[in-house]
Amino acid sequence: MTTVATIADLREALAPARSRGDSVGLVPTMGAFHAGHRSLFRAAREECDTVVVSLFVNPAQFEAGSDLAGYPHDPGADAVFAEAAGIELLFTPDAAELYPPGYQTWVEVEELGRRLEGEHRPGHFRGVATVCLKLFNLVRPARAYFGQKDAQQVAVLRRMIRDLDLDLELELRVLPTVRDHDGLAFSSRNAQLTAAERERALALPRALATRDLDSARARLAGLDVDYVEVVDLDPPVLAAAVRVGSTRLIDNVVLDKEKP
Ligand code: PAJ
Repeated sequence: MTTVATIADLREALAPARSRGDSVGLVPTMGAFHAGHRSLFRAAREECDTVVVSLFVNPAQFEAGSDLAGYPHDPGADAVFAEAAGIELLFTPDAAELYPPGYQTWVEVEELGRRLEGEHRPGHFRGVATVCLKLFNLVRPARAYFGQKDAQQVAVLRRMIRDLDLDLELELRVLPTVRDHDGLAFSSRNAQLTAAERERALALPRALATRDLDSARARLAGLDVDYVEVVDLDPPVLAAAVRVGSTRLIDNVVLDKEKP
């Protein structure tokens, strides 16, 4: 695996793949890899000739004074994980590489980006959309891989791809949510939970597994719930966000298929 941290080195590392006419896959991540990321890596490897994983804890999608500083970060362990998953190219820019001094251009998916997560994390999807568009421009992938775990993120990016006419070049691939043995969806933030908090957090997947709004609400009573809603995305989901201690967790289940 080759690890590059600058845009110039990324371009150079991708040049042979481009001259071969390889199909390039991109998996954007913020690191702290787990089985959810691994499933995206695997799909990308199966479907593309060359796979780029980006690892960038994007400050633009965190609110000021939020959990950016506490976001898990272990680049050494992530490099080992990505290499073991067969990734050829790992892109690990720092913030100044993607947002150099004078940076001032942002992508805003207006309506979709303001609901649910956007309401509780103002500016979040502006940061997500902007960094993903930058990564799409840098890597120019034929396919980009995302998890259904972040269903609204997928909807926002799908809208951006359509609205900015990227859809002829780029296929967005969405993989099912991967869950731990106890039902909790894998998340980089799970590492912040104490054993007792994790036990309480299990109410979230259990509530959503009812696939019924009223039952889910009842099961989440007593927890600090940001929202629990049926959301008319493609596919429709029952989605919720809760806070357990200082950790915020989101999850959803697809409603129109018998899928996890
Ligand atoms: P991150 O939280 O690292 O997630 C990277 C990708 O892994 C996302 O597409 C996410 O939906 C997917 N993922 C996370 N947990 C998953 C699980 N349990 N099962 C399946 N897929 C899962 O999402 C981001 O980073 C960032 O917002 C990013 C898109 C990289 C932009 O900065």
